[in-house]
Amino acid sequence: MKMTLKVSLLSMGLTCCALWGATLQATELGDVDAGRQYAEQYCAGCHDVATPNPMETGSGIPTFAVVANKPRVTRTSLVVWMQSSHPKMPNLMLEPQDLDNVIAYILSLKKN
Ligand code: HEC
Repeated sequence: MKMTLKVSLLSMGLTCCALWGATLQATELGDVDAGRQYAEQYCAGCHDVATPNPMETGSGIPTFAVVANKPRVTRTSLVVWMQSSHPKMPNLMLEPQDLDNVIAYILSLKKN
């Protein structure tokens, strides 16, 4: 009984590391074009995803260019944002690949 518990804990640990490794690896990638397509389909209803101009619109919803050019915004902060819940934005569950792509796209709007 004790044995079984140890084994399953160990395999849980391994699965966890494998997942973590995969996420780490995946966050280094991301296809900007696929991300733009995804954003146009799923995010453009609220966000202006296309304008390269980082100007506030007054709607309370930042354009993706505004998001990208906030000094505090990084790949990590975007991953955290997308995986946590917000009062004003729906909780969107993105597939890891879509998440990478969308984030790559947002970051591609960063000036300099
Ligand atoms: C139903 C409307 C709606 C949709 C759809 C939506 N958003 Fe948002 N989003 C908002 C609002 C509103 C805010 C501003 C929230 C705030 O300031 O609390 C926001 C803010 C953000 C931010 C700002 C993060 C920051 O650090 O300032 C990011 C990034 C973001 N959205 C990404 C996305 C992505 C990616 C999608 C598509 C997969 C998406 N949103 C779809 C309404 C939406």
